[in-house]
Amino acid sequence: MKYLNEIRELVKNEADDSDWKYHIAIVIKYAKQLAKILKTDEDMAELGAILHDIGRLRHGSENHNVTGVIEAEKILKDHNAPQEVIDEIKHCVETHRAIKDLPPKTITAKIVMNADAMSHFDEIPIFFYWKIGGDNFENIFKWVEAKIERDWNEKLTLPEAKEMMREKYEAIKVVLSSTKEHI
Ligand SMILES: [Fe+2]
Ligand SMILES: [Fe+2]
Repeated sequence: MKYLNEIRELVKNEADDSDWKYHIAIVIKYAKQLAKILKTDEDMAELGAILHDIGRLRHGSENHNVTGVIEAEKILKDHNAPQEVIDEIKHCVETHRAIKDLPPKTITAKIVMNADAMSHFDEIPIFFYWKIGGDNFENIFKWVEAKIERDWNEKLTLPEAKEMMREKYEAIKVVLSSTKEHI
């Protein structure tokens, strides 16, 4: 995939430093690991991870799986990606949020959704950082707690991904429950 490096650089330049370093780069890391474990195309998994949040980067969080499909298609066409790659990546972007009635159907799309959730288990403090200033601490705390539970229960659908994150999930629960006693 000769355009992989170019598209990675393009997205890296568009993302905030902290968004790249503490989210997208981690999603890429886990997507590649899962692709290796599951013996599927690592470049395709990486490309899906690179582009999964392109709609959020360009148009904000709301409906970013829908806006992301349009933006990913534009970028891939600009780089002369073959149609089967475009179709696969659009499916990854569209389904990465575990929205009801929109489940990932291909192994690469499942990897991207799982890797997206896995990144959250590595980077709990960034959630608090991103939400600072927008709300009171109790609401931010509840949001983080709900996000992690949803990731664990609805997005970590690959048993391999769940096993990789189990220790961190349990540790996060311990940390959050001690704070919760004071809320
Ligand atoms: Fe997203
Ligand atoms: Fe994401």
